[in-house]
Amino acid sequence: MRDLLEIEHLRTYFKTEDGVVKAVDDVGLHVRQGETVCIVGESGSGKSITAMSIMGLIEGPAGKVNSGHIWFDGQDLLSFNKNELRAVRGNEIAMIFQEPMSSLNPVLTIGQQLIEPLIEHQKMNKKLAKKRAIELIGEVGISRAEQIFTSYSHELSGGMLQRIMIAIAISCRPKLLIADEPTTALDVTIQAQILDLLRKFKADSQMSILLITHDLGVVAEMADYVVVMYAGKVVEEGEVVELFQNPQHPYTRGLLKSKPVINQRQDELYSIPGQVPNPLELKESCYFHDRCEHCMAICRTQEPVLKNVANGQKVACWLYEEAVIHV
Ligand SMILES: Nc1ncnc2c1ncn2[C@@H]1O[C@H](COP(=O)(O)OP(=O)(O)OP(=O)(O)O)[C@@H](O)[C@H]1O
Ligand SMILES: [Mg+2]
Repeated sequence: MRDLLEIEHLRTYFKTEDGVVKAVDDVGLHVRQGETVCIVGESGSGKSITAMSIMGLIEGPAGKVNSGHIWFDGQDLLSFNKNELRAVRGNEIAMIFQEPMSSLNPVLTIGQQLIEPLIEHQKMNKKLAKKRAIELIGEVGISRAEQIFTSYSHELSGGMLQRIMIAIAISCRPKLLIADEPTTALDVTIQAQILDLLRKFKADSQMSILLITHDLGVVAEMADYVVVMYAGKVVEEGEVVELFQNPQHPYTRGLLKSKPVINQRQDELYSIPGQVPNPLELKESCYFHDRCEHCMAICRTQEPVLKNVANGQKVACWLYEEAVIHV
């Protein structure tokens, strides 16, 4: 039996004037029912493109899912046509984006945007959809629901808009919610409230969450399982406690070291030296090699594959390859 979401060997590439950007390159990922999986990684590591590939939002001609499988509830989404995808999107799989302002339509009222999926996917009539929409506004913790129903997005604060995005996303009781940096644009108190909301809906409905964030605090709060991406690849993955207590990949260690800890204040915050490589200049190698303090000769010429190490974690790093002579 397959997990709710199983991504296998996903490759999503963009053709640009300067060459091919392998935004997502042979990525695998599993999300079980009721589980929260977090994808972490620096800017440009392929997190959003992974999410957009699942949602069927990679639009040609430049961008294309080149190969792989995205099994959702036993069916390969990559074999779906546009209509089949539309039936799943916003219904069984919903997504919330980092910028609620740009995801909501400024010329439609909040109410119009809330009732649309209820009418399309849940086949409700307008009256029932309106009743449900007003309930949903209340469920995401906004008072004066009837007044908000007739408001436009520019009349709401960032925190309220993100709550509305969540209301739209959960309106059809999705099996999977993809949240791409849902709290990055919000201040910390609102951020905590939004995360609490997501947790509440997850507990109520056994929904699964694929949460994309670069904030390790959010990961620690939310994740059951963590996938670390770097330059379009998964470099490490594991249960959240194991991964935080026992990170294996030098990149994961660097990420965790970059997180400020109140009782271990330093004069300067640690940051991983160097920069994410230019996606147009990647050659066969470990893509992290020139930022890695453990870099060996083989790291410069061959790509390590993801393999099981201790504690059920998986890591793609030559340090864990026993046959390698560590030089
Ligand atoms: N339309 C596009 N055309 C060309 N390259 C693209 C396009 N969209 C994304 N990319 C490239 O794909 C790579 C992955 O981008 P992606 O948006 O998935 O990163 P990310 O991990 O979500 O980063 P961030 O944390 O900044 O949101 C980047 O190198 C990006 O430049
Ligand atoms: Mg992104």
